[in-house]
Amino acid sequence: MLREDLDRIDAVPMLPEMVGKILTMMDDPNISAVQLANVVSKDQSLVSSILRIVNSAYYGLLWRITSVSQAVVLLGFRTIRNLVLAATVMNSFGGRARAGSFNRGEHWRHSIACAAATAVLAKKWKSAPADEAFLTGLVHDIGRVIMDQYFPEEFEEALVLADLEGKALLETEMQIFGLTHAEIGRHVARKWSFPDGIVNGIGDHHGPATEGEWEALAALVHVADVMVRRAGLALGQWQADLSEDALRVLGHSEEDAEALSEAFMEEYQRSNVFEDLIS
Ligand SMILES: [Fe+2]
Ligand SMILES: [Fe+2]
Repeated sequence: MLREDLDRIDAVPMLPEMVGKILTMMDDPNISAVQLANVVSKDQSLVSSILRIVNSAYYGLLWRITSVSQAVVLLGFRTIRNLVLAATVMNSFGGRARAGSFNRGEHWRHSIACAAATAVLAKKWKSAPADEAFLTGLVHDIGRVIMDQYFPEEFEEALVLADLEGKALLETEMQIFGLTHAEIGRHVARKWSFPDGIVNGIGDHHGPATEGEWEALAALVHVADVMVRRAGLALGQWQADLSEDALRVLGHSEEDAEALSEAFMEEYQRSNVFEDLIS
């Protein structure tokens, strides 16, 4: 597969129309909580996913939220927008893998762990809004699910080759597809009209394009990705190095990141409600 086959990726379905509507609504400063809630409420499974998350240990609220409009008032527009995006992507791409060597459950567990760690870093290092960081971590490897869903034979080849030759999957993706899951993820997230910061966070999480600069979200996801991999929550066995440039942009050291290992795991435990979204 070559770069021009990105056209084939253009056949990747759009997220439900309602999601696009919500993203556009968010740009309108005059929108009310009730109006946003009305749009979300058209999809009952989305409503129940959102209520499940906002009532989980993840938010640890003291009383029960029973409607989306309450959730919007309490948690804010951006948080609900990000939850809608998270729930929709996970609902659409859970289930069984198509490539025999890929395990979507494991993929999403890695992604949830990375989301939790990205959110912790964002909070502690005050470098991005935590909910945006969480969402970016959650979908950072979405390109792999796209490869699995739409190019299962090629993806299986990349997985087997990585295993046989003891290479990083990232490397064999490049060999087989001519581009990596990061680039495919960027392409698809842009097509889905995700906010720009998140699109670049996905596309650059293994490093920005030549001469590009690390943006904060991409750098945060990169550090989180390496940290959760070191904790054993990863696909494949390879050990990635932390990028010095990414750390520099964030103004922190590898030791600073390591000092947060326990906080990453605690946040991951609190986030396990997200695993319910992938069945
Ligand atoms: Fe990745
Ligand atoms: Fe990853």
